[in-house]
Amino acid sequence: MIVKILDDYEKVSEAAALIVKALMISKPQCILGLATGSTPIGLYQSLVRSCKNGEISFRDVRTFNLDEYVGIDMDHPESYHCFMEKHLFDHVDIPKGSFHVPWTDGDNAERDCERYDRSIFEAGGIDLQILGIGGNGHIAFNEPADFFTEETHITTLDERTIRDNARFFDRMEDVPVKAMTVGMGVIMHARRIVMLATGANKADAVYRMLCGEITPRVPASVLRLHPDAVLFLDREAANRIEKLPFIHKM
Ligand code: PGA
Repeated sequence: MIVKILDDYEKVSEAAALIVKALMISKPQCILGLATGSTPIGLYQSLVRSCKNGEISFRDVRTFNLDEYVGIDMDHPESYHCFMEKHLFDHVDIPKGSFHVPWTDGDNAERDCERYDRSIFEAGGIDLQILGIGGNGHIAFNEPADFFTEETHITTLDERTIRDNARFFDRMEDVPVKAMTVGMGVIMHARRIVMLATGANKADAVYRMLCGEITPRVPASVLRLHPDAVLFLDREAANRIEKLPFIHKM
């Protein structure tokens, strides 16, 4: 995993956006794996600006998101469907039907998970996967566990994740406790991974991902085994690792 430290959130967003735009220009029919959360918002803003000025187009791009809450409506303002519309899809030229966000109404979740994996596989797999990292080391909603789960699945969110997500909801009891998430199969088979982490509240997770054991207790640690993964950090998220010898400061 290549690790690059940049000054701040804006520089991290731009560095990641540059990689996405380069791929979209060199491969207009690329398959993007997209993430939600506060971290990638700056990256999406940059993509929207470039799309509006004609530098890039989503016309032939297809996208697959990592995860979605279970138990809230698709049009709930905090659903990841709404998040993606608000921050990206409503502002770019992506055709309806070309973007995919996991969804199950719970009646046949197993079938919905299988279908999601199949649709990614049939699209040819992910060319470039955008990732954030949870404060507990999760990627997508693959929470710390005793083993890695390969397939898309329904998961119960970790207490730390529920606490971290509470800032988006009015009441603690409204915070979803379950989610549908891609597993490690989709993520680790992505041809390229770009991870972003910013802010001091990510410093411990970043340290454990890079310096500890590769273990499902720290799901992001498995990314060290990926052949083409780059991690962009701001100074705060890097504050426990910046003295390590393999780090590139930019
Ligand atoms: P955040 O979430 O970008 O809102 O910090 C990242 C994640 O949980 O993967």
